[in-house]
Amino acid sequence: MIKTQLFDLTDRVAVVSGGASGMGRSIAIALAEHGADVMIADLNHDGARRTCERIESIGRKGVAIACDVSKPESIVELFALLDREFGRIDFLANVAGEGTTAKPEEMPLHVVMRVFQNLVFGRFVMCQEAGRRMLKQERGSILNIGSLASTTALGRGHVAYSMAMGAVVQLTRELSTEWARRGVRVNAILPAQVLNPGLEARMAADPSLRAKFLSGIPRGRLGEPDDIRGLAVLLASDASSWISGALIPMDGGNLALNAGGTIG
Ligand SMILES: NC(=O)c1ccc[n+]([C@@H]2O[C@H](COP(=O)([O-])OP(=O)(O)OC[C@H]3O[C@@H](n4cnc5c(N)ncnc54)[C@H](O)[C@@H]3O)[C@@H](O)[C@H]2O)c1
Repeated sequence: MIKTQLFDLTDRVAVVSGGASGMGRSIAIALAEHGADVMIADLNHDGARRTCERIESIGRKGVAIACDVSKPESIVELFALLDREFGRIDFLANVAGEGTTAKPEEMPLHVVMRVFQNLVFGRFVMCQEAGRRMLKQERGSILNIGSLASTTALGRGHVAYSMAMGAVVQLTRELSTEWARRGVRVNAILPAQVLNPGLEARMAADPSLRAKFLSGIPRGRLGEPDDIRGLAVLLASDASSWISGALIPMDGGNLALNAGGTIG
């Protein structure tokens, strides 16, 4: 068997927001399995600690911090701790942040602001703090989690979420354009429906929803948090050194399928 260093992350330092559960947790563990030390920032401090325990059990350093990405001061604290604990950052996975649903004609404006605060402002401030450090190092990689809703419409009251996820795409393109020459790559992954407790609850409330989702996914199943592991390790590693500004669907073929198309 040929052993390759292509995806090796030994002694790299990663920050993962939303790492207490779901895709953030899967990313954090995959990075540690490839050699990275990981800082986990999440509203759910106990969950973040549990992810760190798993990281330590792999033999890597894990540090958990309670952080609300919708609050810039909370992000500044997170990076101050990063500086003390690790003194560098090689990879940022910007995963945390939630949307909310309401009919566009009824959605209160403060709710739209909250969604932007979480998904756009939060991701921007994280990128800014990480980017400042990476630019000094002349090296680093940032992953922003977008969504199918970054480029297509979902309906069902997702207007604020879609506006915010659309902005995440432009954030990614702008930062890549400004920073790639200076060694900092910025990419986005756009997932389709990935199982998590919120999605399970929505499918339980509307029994037609699962079939609706599956009708758009040629791969024939919903996503699992672990489906993101390979892409995250790729983007954190030197194997992706010429990939920047990319919007990578992780969707079982969803974006390729026209609404009038027929799954084979
Ligand atoms: N699951 C999907 O179908 C799907 C699809 C496309 C995009 N996304 C996006 O991917 C991201 C992660 O989704 P997931 O399915 O892994 O979710 P999840 O609910 O499993 O995990 C989200 C984590 O983020 C944390 N979090 C939420 N708000 C936070 C905040 N303000 N500050 C810090 N931590 C916060 C939660 O405590 C939780 O640990 C979200 O931004 C979501 O919108 C999800």
